[in-house]
Amino acid sequence: MTEYEIKKQICEIGKRIYDHGMVASNDGNISVKINDNEFLCTPTGVSKGFMTPEYICKVDANGKVIQANEGFKPSSEIKMHMRVYKERPDVKAVVHAHPLYATSFAIAGIPLTEPIMPEAVIALGCVPIAEYGTPSTEEIPDAVSKYLQYYDAVLLANHGALSFSDSLLNAYHKMESLEFYAQLLYQSKMLGGPKQLSDSQVQRLYEIRRQFGLKGKHPADLCPNAKAGKPSCHSCGGSCGGSCGSDDSDLIAEITKKVLAAMGK
Ligand code: 13P
Repeated sequence: MTEYEIKKQICEIGKRIYDHGMVASNDGNISVKINDNEFLCTPTGVSKGFMTPEYICKVDANGKVIQANEGFKPSSEIKMHMRVYKERPDVKAVVHAHPLYATSFAIAGIPLTEPIMPEAVIALGCVPIAEYGTPSTEEIPDAVSKYLQYYDAVLLANHGALSFSDSLLNAYHKMESLEFYAQLLYQSKMLGGPKQLSDSQVQRLYEIRRQFGLKGKHPADLCPNAKAGKPSCHSCGGSCGGSCGSDDSDLIAEITKKVLAAMGK
């Protein structure tokens, strides 16, 4: 793809996230890696639904402007995008949006970790919540950083969602899947609560994902328990280092059950 074609694709994806209600007004931002020191990104303060290629800015690996047309400055969240590229060399595109359901979960402090449908388990794994940070500061990159090696999408507490992948289309699809999953989780909670897939059903889905050879970070490939075919809590995403099915977690689950029973829940 030429640089101009990538700029056009950024505009198309911007229109899509706007038209699908994943951003309101001037919210959200998108970036694409061209090479180790050149990145294209959306400008700050414009509606992502009405961009043309002339809007798109070019920055270096530190987020400093290489080229921007008059009246345009790189996104105020460029530091967050750059941290993803720095710590995940496999990532070629980053999408940040405020989708209604996913952002509601991010505001309520509920991560998207319940295994409720095969596609979400296979494609997304689970989506944790990075601690709140003030937009445009280093606080968000710092908060997101600890999840980058284990996940391909994170919620940003009281803010929105971030997805990243090996192409812009895949990063966008990840955002779309996470919002659909958040919507299903919300609706099923309204209907009395989802019936979660069992450990063995989750393990079979992990196996399918491995057979497909899907790229990215996922508990199926990262969680030592899941890889060994042992129960994994799914929600660890791999970051537990194998302790999610350990005696400790069983003990904690048992204590939690007893406390809830004592409280009459
Ligand atoms: P920018 O317009 O600066 O990219 O910011 C939009 C946004 O959503 C901040 O979180």
